[in-house]
Amino acid sequence: MNIGFIGAGKVGTAFGKYLSNNHFSVKGYYSRSKKSAERAADFTGSNAYCNINDLTQHSDIIFITTNDDEISRVCKMLINGDLLTQGQILVHMSGASSSRILEGAKERGCFIYSLHPLQAFADIGKAVEDLHHTVFSIEGDCEKIHVLQEILESTGNKYFNISSDQKSIYHAAACVVSNYLVTLMDYGLSLFEAIGINNHDGFKALYPLIEGSLKNIASLGTKEALTGPIARGDVKTIEGHIEAIGDIFLKELDFYKLMGSMTLDLAKSGKLNDRNKAEKMEEILGDRIKIGEKISLPE
Ligand SMILES: NC(=O)c1ccc[n+]([C@@H]2O[C@H](COP(=O)([O-])OP(=O)(O)OC[C@H]3O[C@@H](n4cnc5c(N)ncnc54)[C@H](OP(=O)(O)O)[C@@H]3O)[C@@H](O)[C@H]2O)c1
Repeated sequence: MNIGFIGAGKVGTAFGKYLSNNHFSVKGYYSRSKKSAERAADFTGSNAYCNINDLTQHSDIIFITTNDDEISRVCKMLINGDLLTQGQILVHMSGASSSRILEGAKERGCFIYSLHPLQAFADIGKAVEDLHHTVFSIEGDCEKIHVLQEILESTGNKYFNISSDQKSIYHAAACVVSNYLVTLMDYGLSLFEAIGINNHDGFKALYPLIEGSLKNIASLGTKEALTGPIARGDVKTIEGHIEAIGDIFLKELDFYKLMGSMTLDLAKSGKLNDRNKAEKMEEILGDRIKIGEKISLPE
């Protein structure tokens, strides 16, 4: 099966190289700029196409690896330009959308999919290495889904099969653990900053703690990995936190209480089995302001 890429950016280039390292026939790249297509073609030992029609004619599987906003536009362009052939497989690699954004191509007899790697592609060389242990999700038409599954099976990658309707939840989960983790770090560092510990020193100091928690989650699962005052039922400690944070920023206090409530739910389903302490904790954490009422955006 010949594979072509429209969009010679980080993901298209790294995934193309990974496929070609695994002996798949990567025909080449078409991109908005000739320079990007040539760079990806050089890196993967394939062709740079100046004419998109040449790429589609030579490909059984077409990956649209443009930025998200361009995927449907490119798909429409392929349809309107009559550039698709019956039986071709059209795939995008966005986590945010399902294969439905390629729907129009089905009327041309194509099969449509989204194939999403749970990985951050910042540096192409590193991404090619990281792809060895990347888990994917696959979603789309039943008829030829086995083609994509077989590709991942032969490269040794694990994958989840999900439905189009599940794609947003799947993507939200990925965003929560990656993007919100960054926000969580920023929150902790801002509390440190409020007592005079700068971000650099603060992060270095907190890193072993973060790493230890990640290792505990990996080996024990979330319920058993939970440690600290909420898991132990130390009500007075939590009251002390609330008082101290409330003295600094109200917004930060709300976040603390919201996360505390979620942590309490987790503790109650695992380590915390003292009902009185849990109820007392629920009382002090549940008393939250409505975020929208207190945070006003700049004019
Ligand atoms: N980056 C990540 O961590 C990551 C992770 C998982 C999934 N994804 C998904 O992978 C896809 C690609 O992301 P990326 O990070 O590789 O983006 P990127 O590095 O910005 O690359 C996008 C490429 O698409 C090309 N392009 C844009 N519009 C085009 C058009 N109309 N026709 C042809 N080519 C066009 C650009 O071309 P020129 O360079 O030629 O201007 C650019 O090379 C997205 O759907 C993204 O959601 C990304």
